[in-house]
Amino acid sequence: MIIAIDGPAGAGKSTVAKILAKRLGFLYIDTGAMYRALTLKVLENNIPVNDELQINELAKKVKIDLRNNPDGSLTVLLDGQDVSLEIRKARITQFVSDIAKIKDVRQVLVKMQRELGKRGDCVLDGRDIGTVVFPDAARKFFIDATSNVRVQRRFKELKDLNQNIAVLDVEKDLSNRDKIDSTREISPLCKAKDAIYIDTTELSIEQVVDKLLRFIKNG
Ligand code: DC
Repeated sequence: MIIAIDGPAGAGKSTVAKILAKRLGFLYIDTGAMYRALTLKVLENNIPVNDELQINELAKKVKIDLRNNPDGSLTVLLDGQDVSLEIRKARITQFVSDIAKIKDVRQVLVKMQRELGKRGDCVLDGRDIGTVVFPDAARKFFIDATSNVRVQRRFKELKDLNQNIAVLDVEKDLSNRDKIDSTREISPLCKAKDAIYIDTTELSIEQVVDKLLRFIKNG
């Protein structure tokens, strides 16, 4: 069974998806982490983020893999190297949306995501899972929250990762990424027609997980 979770940055998708996958015994596939890993590779190779030709070449060569650990955490491997922490840094966040809007990049990563989806039952989170990657997913959710709450959540998440960043910068980053992610030409962020919309503004993580579990069990 494929469970698709889409929504804007900071809505709580990955936290919820990770817990949900663990509860159900499903694999967790964080597709944003894959775009982040490719962005890291682009920066490591000093390729300008608007050099689509070079980025496309790199995307075709790079190996990105995700490992679900027994404690529920996720390891992101880039050409065999653990980059799980590196890809959460501000320099990656700053450029990831520019890389993710490139058509050929999306084609390559969507293919990788479909391959990962063959490993078994899984929960995938991203921006285009229910619309493009797995349009036939058994369950689809669109998780949202007000931009204020999303900024606060992302700020706390970064603080927990010991990243020294001002709330104002988090706010700027989120609104910039929201804009790029939802207005890009290729598979922009949008709710699939048959996805269940969940506003998490007033809900705790546990409440969101419970809500999703109910929908999943009741069909
Ligand atoms: O969920 P995240 O913040 O880790 O995602 C990073 C970026 O990757 C996000 O700004 C948009 C892009 N992304 C995408 O375009 N499609 C996906 N399925 C997942 C992420």
